[in-house]
Amino acid sequence: MAGVPAPLIAPSILSADFSRLADEAAAVEGSDWLHVDVMDAHFVPNLTIGLPVVESLLQATDIPLDCHLMIEDPDRWAPPYAEAGAHNVTVHAEAARDPRRIAKDLRAAGARAGLSVKPNTPLEDWLEVLRDYDTLLVMSVEPGFGGQSFMPEVLDKVRTARRLVDTGHLTVLVEIDGGIGTDTVEQAAEAGVDCFVAGSAVYGAEDPGRAVEALRGQAAHASPHRRETTRE
Ligand code: DX5
Ligand code: ZN
Repeated sequence: MAGVPAPLIAPSILSADFSRLADEAAAVEGSDWLHVDVMDAHFVPNLTIGLPVVESLLQATDIPLDCHLMIEDPDRWAPPYAEAGAHNVTVHAEAARDPRRIAKDLRAAGARAGLSVKPNTPLEDWLEVLRDYDTLLVMSVEPGFGGQSFMPEVLDKVRTARRLVDTGHLTVLVEIDGGIGTDTVEQAAEAGVDCFVAGSAVYGAEDPGRAVEALRGQAAHASPHRRETTRE
């Protein structure tokens, strides 16, 4: 339908070959955001990459970077990702000391501010704070690893957020992360997701670029057409 932007697809490089990140980014050049999972072995039981690699990646690709910080003390560590040039920087509600301040710092540095909730974190506790944010990242697996099974029970949070956005109470873009693939993308789209992170479903595919297009097509088909999303 004319006037309704396509859903956003954000391949997660957690499932890519870390020794060839520039090539792996090029393989999904038609995607909307490139999702970068930063883990510190404290907030989650896994360790990945940090700011130096993100800085290199910013030089290597034109795809806007979507940095998902699964780290403790994001109040201290998140703003430098925005200053480096990340398009969207998401922190975890469970780890933030002063989430309003973080949002302000991220925006002041020129990035979108994102807030993420783990599967068992209620959305209600964060609705007020979310008024200061641009993105809500609903985790549909326990953060820490790719390749886990999608948790459909988190879609209630997506529906709530979608309703609040559609009625003008929130202005966040609704993003989902974990277990998204050809078998789950449609139910997430129906619930009202705007942006779909997919790691193993993209980089585990023979042709990652095609996998992105296929997911976008499925999501667009299942999305309620009445709503407007932004590609910002
Ligand atoms: C998990 C990460 C996800 C991960 C998703 O903690 O936040 O971004 O890469 O991987 P899949 O799509 O394989 O579940
Ligand atoms: Zn992620």
